[in-house]
Amino acid sequence: MASENIKAAVDIGTSKVVALVGEMDDDGKVYVIGHGERPAEGLRRGVVVDMEKTVKSIQQAVKDAALVSGTEIDRVTVGIAGEHIRSINSNGVVAVGRADSEITQADVDKVLGAAKAVAIPVDREIIHVIPQEFSVDDQDGIKDPIGMTGVRLEVEAHIVTASITTARNLYRALERCRLEADHIVLESLGLSEAILSEDDLDNGIIVLDIGGELSNMSIFHDGAVRHTAVIPLGGRAVTNDIAIGLRTTVEQAELLKISNGAALGSIVDPEEMITIQSPASHEPRELSRHVLASIIEPRVEEILSLVVREIRKANVGDMLTSGMVLTGGGALLEGIIPLAEQMLDMPVRMGQITNFEHIPDELNSVRYATVHGLLLYAFHHEPVRSSGSGFLRNLLLKCERWISKQF
Ligand SMILES: Nc1ncnc2c1ncn2[C@@H]1O[C@H](COP(=O)(O)OP(=O)(O)OP(=O)(O)O)[C@@H](O)[C@H]1O
Ligand SMILES: [Mg+2]
Repeated sequence: MASENIKAAVDIGTSKVVALVGEMDDDGKVYVIGHGERPAEGLRRGVVVDMEKTVKSIQQAVKDAALVSGTEIDRVTVGIAGEHIRSINSNGVVAVGRADSEITQADVDKVLGAAKAVAIPVDREIIHVIPQEFSVDDQDGIKDPIGMTGVRLEVEAHIVTASITTARNLYRALERCRLEADHIVLESLGLSEAILSEDDLDNGIIVLDIGGELSNMSIFHDGAVRHTAVIPLGGRAVTNDIAIGLRTTVEQAELLKISNGAALGSIVDPEEMITIQSPASHEPRELSRHVLASIIEPRVEEILSLVVREIRKANVGDMLTSGMVLTGGGALLEGIIPLAEQMLDMPVRMGQITNFEHIPDELNSVRYATVHGLLLYAFHHEPVRSSGSGFLRNLLLKCERWISKQF
C-alpha cells in the first residue's frame, strides 16, 4: 500500500464482490477514497467452487478500487462467512506470572491461549478469540485487567472457527490476485464496526445481515460478542420462490421483488395491481401486489424464525434492549421491520453506516455495510502477521506440512 494511513477491504459476498479503499487522517477520521464492485462468480454460499471465476471477480473489483483511489493495493482485510463457520464460548484460567501480582499483557495472552485450548477438530482453524470479560480473583465483569493485581486471571471468550479447506481456498484466491491478507474477519463481526454504537454494544443488540445466499447474525451484550451464527438463506431464496410461485424467470422475479416486493402482506393494499412479463406468452399479466407479498412473507418469516432459534440458543433474549438492526440487500424489503418486530417482539431498525467522515452517496446503503465494517476493522486492529506473511499463509503451510506428513 502507498501508506500506512491507507487500507483496503474486500467483501466477497454471495452475490457481489466489493473492494473498498479508505484513508485515515491524523484525527482518526476515515474517508472512503475508492471502490470497485463485480458480481460474485465462482462462489456458493460463501465457499469457493470455481477458483478461476472467483479470482477474476476479486481481481476486477480490486483493480477498479485501486484505479479510483489512485493507490496500489497489495494487502487487504477480507471477510469470511458460510455454513462452515462455528462459534463457541470458552473460558480459560491462569495464575498471574509476576511476583508482585500485577497483570501484564503476557498474562492476558496466556489466559486467551488457555481459552483457545478447547478441543477443535483437525479440519478446523480458529479465526477469532474475542475476550468477553475477565475475572481477577473473585472480581468479575472486568473489561481490561492489565495493570490490576491478583493471583488468578480468568477469561470468558468467544471462539470462532472456520473449515481449513474453505479458508485455504479463500487464501489461494487472494494469493492468485497477488494480495496478502492483513486480516481474515468473520463478516458479521466486521460489519458491527460500521453500524453499532457503544451503547448498542452495552445494551445488547442483534445484527442480522440478509445477503444473497446467506444471512449472518451476531449478538452483542455488555460490550462484547456473545453469539454468532450463519443462516443458509437469503434474498435469493425469496427470488426463487417468486419465480416458482408466479411461473416466471429468476431475472423477472428479481426485478419484481426489487421494484414491488414487500415482506408483510397486511401493509399492502389488495387493490394495488402490478404488471409482470410472462416468458411464455410475451403478453404482460396483471397481478395484485398483495399476492407477491404473500409469496415473499413466508420465506422472510422462515429466516426470522431461524434468528429466533439462535436467540434462544444464546439464552440472551431479554437482555437485548437495543433490539435488532438489519443490513444486507435482502433487508431492503418494504414491511420487513414491522414483520421482524412482530416475530422477535423487540425494536428493530434499519442499519446505517456510521463512523466514516466521508462515504460516496452510491455506497451509503445497507448493501455495503459489511465492506465498510471490514475497512474499519482494518484500521482498528494490528495486522496479524508472522514472519512477514499472512495468517492464512501460515495456516496453509501448516496444512501442507500435515498433508505431506500423511503421504
Ligand atoms: N431493493 C431491494 N429489495 C429487496 N431485495 C434486494 C434489494 N436490493 C438487493 N436485494 C437482494 O439482496 C440480496 C443481495 O444482498 P447483498 O448484496 O447484501 O449480498 P452479498 O453481500 O453479496 O451476499 P452475502 O452477504 O450472503 O455473502 C439479493 O438476493 C438481492 O435480491
Ligand atoms: Mg454480504
